[in-house]
Amino acid sequence: MATSQPRIRPLAGSLGAEISGIDLSEPLSEEQFSFVHRALLEYLVIFFRDQPVGPEQQIAFARRFGDLHIHPYIPCLEGYPEVLALKSKDDGPGNMAYQSNTWHTDLTYEAEPPMASVLRAVEVPEAGGDTMWLNLYAAYDALSAPFQKFVSGLTAVHNIVASMPSDFTDQPYAARQLTRMQETSPPVEHPVVRTHPETGKKCLFVNRNFTSHIKGLTRPESDALIGYLLSHAEQPEFQCRFHWQRNSIAMWDNRCTEHYALVDYRSRRVMHRVTVCGDRPV
Ligand SMILES: [Fe+2]
Repeated sequence: MATSQPRIRPLAGSLGAEISGIDLSEPLSEEQFSFVHRALLEYLVIFFRDQPVGPEQQIAFARRFGDLHIHPYIPCLEGYPEVLALKSKDDGPGNMAYQSNTWHTDLTYEAEPPMASVLRAVEVPEAGGDTMWLNLYAAYDALSAPFQKFVSGLTAVHNIVASMPSDFTDQPYAARQLTRMQETSPPVEHPVVRTHPETGKKCLFVNRNFTSHIKGLTRPESDALIGYLLSHAEQPEFQCRFHWQRNSIAMWDNRCTEHYALVDYRSRRVMHRVTVCGDRPV
C-alpha cells in the first residue's frame, strides 16, 4: 500500500474528498494526522480505499481525534464496546436501517453530539448501499441575510423519539421502551444555527430524525420552519454520494454534515462504526 505523499481528490463540488497515500493499518505520523485533520475540516467527509484494518486499528485511528463514544442503544462488536456493528440480514436491509435511511446527523439527541464518525465497509452488497452526505455550512450560507438572522436566534429541541417509525411505535412493547429511552436520553436543546468549534463557521443544525420542534414557536410555525430548513438543506447541490467497496473507510465531521444511507440492496451489508465524542453546540 502506498505510504508516500498523501494526495487528495475532491468527490463533489460541495463536500467530500478521497485521500490516497496513507495506510491506516499503521499509526499516523504527526504530519499524516495533521493532513487528515485539515482535510476533514475542509471537505467535511473524507474517504480512504483499500484499508483492510481490524477493529483495533480503526479504534486507534479514531482515537487520534478524541475520546470515543459508546452508543447507548446500538449493539457493539463483541469485545469492542467502541465499535458499532451495523449489520443487515443475510438477504437485505432488515435491522440495518436504524433510521439511517433518512437525512440525519448522528446522536443529536445527546447534549454533546459526536464530533466525527469513522465507518468501515466490512461486507458490501453486490449493488447499492451507497451513502450520501450533505454540507450544513452551505445550507446556512445559501439562506438570505434576514432569514439567517431570524433562525440564528432560535433554539431547537432534539429528542430520540421524535421520528421513531410507526412499525416500532405501534408495537405493544413500544410504550415501555420509549419511556426507558426518554429516561436514558431526555430531550435536549441545541441552537438552530451552531458555530463550528474548530473552523468558526456557522452551519444549520437541524435534522429529520431528532429535531422535534423549535422552542417558542407554535406547533404549525415550528413544523413549517423545520420542514423548510430540512428541504432547503437536502438539495442535491449540497450533497455528495459515495459508493462503498470492501475496506473503504469514510470519516465525517458530524458537527456540520448530515448523511443518508441508501437501503436499495438485497444482499448482506456489514459496517463497523467508531464514533468520536464532541462538545456542546453553541
Ligand atoms: Fe447515521
